[in-house]
Amino acid sequence: MQVTDGAFDAPYHAPVLVAEVLERLGHARSVLDGTLGGGGHTAALIAEGAEVTALDRDPEAIAAARERLPDAERAGKFHPVQSNFADIDVVPALDNLTFDGILLDLGVSSHQIDDAKRGFTFREGAPLDMRMGADAEMDAAEWLAVSEVPAMAQAFKEYADEPKAMRLARTIEKRRSRAPLLVSDDLVGAIREALGPRSGSGDFARLFQAVRIAVNGELTALERALPVLRDRLAEGGVMVVIAYHSGEDRIVKHAFRAWSVDCICPPRHPVCTCGNNHSLGEVLTRRAVTAAEGEATRNPRARSARLRAWRRRG
Ligand SMILES: C[S@@+](CC[C@H](N)C(=O)[O-])C[C@H]1O[C@@H](n2cnc3c(N)ncnc32)[C@H](O)[C@@H]1O
Repeated sequence: MQVTDGAFDAPYHAPVLVAEVLERLGHARSVLDGTLGGGGHTAALIAEGAEVTALDRDPEAIAAARERLPDAERAGKFHPVQSNFADIDVVPALDNLTFDGILLDLGVSSHQIDDAKRGFTFREGAPLDMRMGADAEMDAAEWLAVSEVPAMAQAFKEYADEPKAMRLARTIEKRRSRAPLLVSDDLVGAIREALGPRSGSGDFARLFQAVRIAVNGELTALERALPVLRDRLAEGGVMVVIAYHSGEDRIVKHAFRAWSVDCICPPRHPVCTCGNNHSLGEVLTRRAVTAAEGEATRNPRARSARLRAWRRRG
């Protein structure tokens, strides 16, 4: 199918790289969409003839996509399930299912960002919540209240590349001893104090994202999920992952590479001892696929998207 850019956009969310996803998954008859969101990619895959089982941690995403795709659900082409994609092995409805295609479009949807009460942005007065779903152990306010300084500093460094990570963690510790951080302004105040008066919206966005990643255990879930999902691919099946954060993209790149080599012994090891005598499949994207200029201009979310694909041996 020839896809016009924007054809599957919805007010809930505008999916990125739809043509690039269909190029790799358009042939698949049974697909697992691990990140349903507003159902844009799922709708495109169903239009290509696939039957899609779709997961999301967020009940609001499940409800919105069911409202969008009632005919497909009635026709048995769309099976929404509220779950973390890392927990697929403990969802009874998904027992023993394998798929020709698996898609992960990571991060948050535009709806989650736009809805101030979800607390994903630094819009004034927004509660520090940031949970994608009820399976998150705590919300952002609690994370900022109970995390040890080194753990906070590590999150700011690893997830936001923040050079003043330790200073920010100490500032939060000092401020929370006076009053809990409950709304976005409290975290913005701490960031301003630690980074200085020249800090601005780019810093707030980066550091709020770091808190979100920590609260939802996003990188841990991805690392845990990838091999589990790989084992749900049918022979010759393809996995596509779209990442928006360099840490996520690195995890995907390394996993796909590691699954594709014949030997995983350390370099210069004189004799092979790993016993990994053949690769599990092949990387389909030598470099991450990015959005074309037109899409990136129309949909700014697409600018940071990095798509990678891997095929299981046939
Ligand atoms: C970028 S949006 C997906 C948009 C979707 N592809 C579309 O076309 O509308 C990411 C979605 O994945 C969900 N999500 C993120 N991490 C998840 C996880 N570990 N398990 C299940 N859902 C997750 C979020 O709640 C969000 O709804």
